[in-house]
Amino acid sequence: MTNFHDKVIYQIYPKSFKDTTGNGIGDLKGIIEKLPYLDELGVDMLWLNPFYPSPQNDNGYDVADYTAIDPMFGTWEDFDTLVQEADKRGISLMLDMVLNHTSTEHEWFQKALAGDKKYQDYYLLREAQADGSLPTNWESKFGGKAWSKFGDTDLYYLHLYDKTQADLDWRNPEVRQELYDAVNFWLEKGVKGLRFDVINVIGKDEQLSDADDGVGKKLYTDTPIVHEYIQELNRETFGKYDDVVTVGEMSSTTVKNGIDYSHPDRDELSMIFSFHHLKVDYKDGDKWTKAPFDFLELKKLLDEWQRGMNEGGGWNAVFWNNHDQPRANSRFGDVDNYPFETATMLAQTIHFLSGTPFVYQGEEIGMTNPNFNKIDDYVDIESHNAYQELKNRGMSEAEVMEIIQEKSRDNARTPMQWDDSKNAGFTDGTPWLKIPENYKERNVESKRVSQSIRDYYKQLIQLRKEYKLIQEGSYESILLGHQSIYAYMREYEGQKLLVLNHFYGDEAIIDLPQHLLKKEARYLLGNKGERQLEEKFMMQPYETVAFLLD
Ligand code: GLC
Repeated sequence: MTNFHDKVIYQIYPKSFKDTTGNGIGDLKGIIEKLPYLDELGVDMLWLNPFYPSPQNDNGYDVADYTAIDPMFGTWEDFDTLVQEADKRGISLMLDMVLNHTSTEHEWFQKALAGDKKYQDYYLLREAQADGSLPTNWESKFGGKAWSKFGDTDLYYLHLYDKTQADLDWRNPEVRQELYDAVNFWLEKGVKGLRFDVINVIGKDEQLSDADDGVGKKLYTDTPIVHEYIQELNRETFGKYDDVVTVGEMSSTTVKNGIDYSHPDRDELSMIFSFHHLKVDYKDGDKWTKAPFDFLELKKLLDEWQRGMNEGGGWNAVFWNNHDQPRANSRFGDVDNYPFETATMLAQTIHFLSGTPFVYQGEEIGMTNPNFNKIDDYVDIESHNAYQELKNRGMSEAEVMEIIQEKSRDNARTPMQWDDSKNAGFTDGTPWLKIPENYKERNVESKRVSQSIRDYYKQLIQLRKEYKLIQEGSYESILLGHQSIYAYMREYEGQKLLVLNHFYGDEAIIDLPQHLLKKEARYLLGNKGERQLEEKFMMQPYETVAFLLD
């Protein structure tokens, strides 16, 4: 099995990375053009969000053909060139596999609609309950109910996401075979990484039933059969290679399942994404609210996952950002007064943890939430649904927009800011999503803040490659109850790494335990320059610093 403990993976949202045709949408040629940039950053693998043919109702997660490229993104020639050119630089590709559902425009669904029984068995079609209510009371994760009418029949089809994303029936062996064929298709094209979209919700029961909570999550998440399916997926596809890295996106999972999904002995996946630490600014668990983040809860969750996965032999993907999350620096820091400190502190917190770090495009130059003030400037379907729902609850336009500005998935999806020219150098046309106003100072070319952040990322990436301690070290938190500092220690073969991260805009002191001070401390990296380790260690706003203890 290839080593993925020393790797850093960079996520590209193709639609928003670089447009070379002037249609306002990023493309594969744009990624090829920017390979030198990615190479210089030092990343090993590029996770590309879906670029398959799709009606784009959920920005490509509504796949209409698993083994083709949407012409909007490019051609086969572009794809092959991308694989080859990336390979020359020691960079490989990780593709997004959306195997829980297909677009309702997928040929399978269309055939099912036309009455073809074989394809009707590909989906979860059910009759209404005796009293005429929907087959189950489950909710869609994008708002509303999880069932829609199947054509002009009496049946309903299940969709845990948008109504144009129909859930596949994994109990049907033919479905699984079709999906494995699609995965193998890409592996044969030289893809070395696979990211499996919402893979822990594929195991629905044969008999679907109403949920006590009226939501349903518990009934279809992490069911035991998911592990069996993933083992089969492994055997039938990437398990035949010894150099493929996989990551599963796990919706609302547990540490116990996280270990099982990623323990090497179980032949499931290389690692998993979990999201609990990114829900610490949800009021009463509801995403569409505005609340300050709960720092102690954030630490508790990071700690729980670090410890749990380490002890159990699982492996975390470590990350703050992706295409579904608001920008972490806008969320957990102060991007107006401390843009450099915020971005580097967050980065260092993650990069020195145990796990494989993921960097989301633009994070390395300090891109922020755009704070658009009109709903029409947002494109994301989930944001539009939430807007309607909040309005229906009687909230004012201003209140609703404040929440959308904080929580919309489009926060991450705005085009990459390459320079200070028109449209931030992303496109010559009209960008599909507006460019944030601050692009003139936050862009790849900008000497002021962005380049310093980027230089810092380069160091973090290099340090991971140099130090077994960072790749393999054990993890232990220090003074977990501290109100504003997240301190932890890594250890490997007698060497220790002490990492101190201050999450607020004031000064703070941490009283370090004596046993740490007895060691010889060498400064490794920090965003306030070189520091000496001392007992009452005072930290500046959003400061981060790491010491090697011998
Ligand atoms: C994942 C994707 C998200 C998508 C959803 C449904 O959570 O990251 O963008 O909307 O799955 O496919």
